[in-house]
Amino acid sequence: MSEFNDKKVMVTGGAGFIGFHLSKSLASLTGNLTIYDNLSSGKIENVNDVPSAKFVKGDILDLGTLFAQEKMDLIYHLAAQVVVPYSMENPMEDFDTNAKGTLCVLEKARKDDAKVVFASSAAVYGNPSVFPTPESYGFHPFSCYGLSKVVGEEYCQMYREQYGLDIVITRFANVYGPRCHGVIHDFLDKLVKNSNKLEIIGSGEQCRDFVHVSDVVDALIKVGNMDSIVGEVYNLGFGKTVSVLELAKMMLTILGLQGKTVVTTTNTSWQGDVTKIWFDITNAKKELNWNPKISLEDNIKEIVAERKITK
Ligand SMILES: NC(=O)c1ccc[n+]([C@@H]2O[C@H](COP(=O)([O-])OP(=O)(O)OC[C@H]3O[C@@H](n4cnc5c(N)ncnc54)[C@H](O)[C@@H]3O)[C@@H](O)[C@H]2O)c1
Repeated sequence: MSEFNDKKVMVTGGAGFIGFHLSKSLASLTGNLTIYDNLSSGKIENVNDVPSAKFVKGDILDLGTLFAQEKMDLIYHLAAQVVVPYSMENPMEDFDTNAKGTLCVLEKARKDDAKVVFASSAAVYGNPSVFPTPESYGFHPFSCYGLSKVVGEEYCQMYREQYGLDIVITRFANVYGPRCHGVIHDFLDKLVKNSNKLEIIGSGEQCRDFVHVSDVVDALIKVGNMDSIVGEVYNLGFGKTVSVLELAKMMLTILGLQGKTVVTTTNTSWQGDVTKIWFDITNAKKELNWNPKISLEDNIKEIVAERKITK
């Protein structure tokens, strides 16, 4: 990984869940790392845990602050509004952060002639009819969040074509691991409050492709280092799908609560929720020589241990 040695690297959203893990890994590869985050959902503790990085508390929509930063060689753009129901309630704000914000980051990259790795999402596929879903399935967003990610991707490709920027798009499935938020933490929070009952929002039949954050970071580091993949798009998932009900049962087994906790479903989900995510990861495996390693079960055990939840 010596290629990173002299590079000036920026991680937007570096105080967030995935951005923190990425920054932590990058900090061991380059002495020139900048975390750029407005801390809207990111945490200062995450920044403090990457002490060698320079931290800029800034908004990606603030071009003045972005442009005031030194010339970058590589920008990982992860800063985003990430909550699907919030995007449905606040489509303008979601658009500003995810679409216009991406455009601002691309302007910074254009000024610096920097490479960009863009964090996109399974949400661009909406409710696919092909499983496992390949990158070529195309855009069918089902939420404002999905659509704002599509717009971000389209701007990336436009900047590559028209300005010759070196851009790679990565689409994440459901990323989990230490310090994450989302369904695993939601279930754990509920079980800590009341271990007799676990309520699942929706039918429980919604399926997700859970991939561990360290596997995602591994792929992102590879993508940042490779010059031969300009304009490519990669699905980053585990390549398997698990229903939320199966996930709940797995967690109860790990916590020794099987048979003790009543699992209920609300049957109604939230607006923009998709039925099934299951990625075809053939391209990332072949072209990046990448293989996700950590299983969901190990992943949950790690989170349970991190949160010191005892049986
Ligand atoms: N977590 C997942 O499962 C998942 C799945 C698909 C895609 N993604 C994408 O990966 C990226 C990281 O997601 P995450 O789960 O770490 O989310 P996160 O909310 O933990 O991180 C997002 C970070 O962006 C920062 N941010 C938000 N708006 C900003 C702005 N205007 N200016 C500067 N910083 C801003 C937040 O403070 C936060 O630190 C996002 O682009 C998200 O869309 C995540």
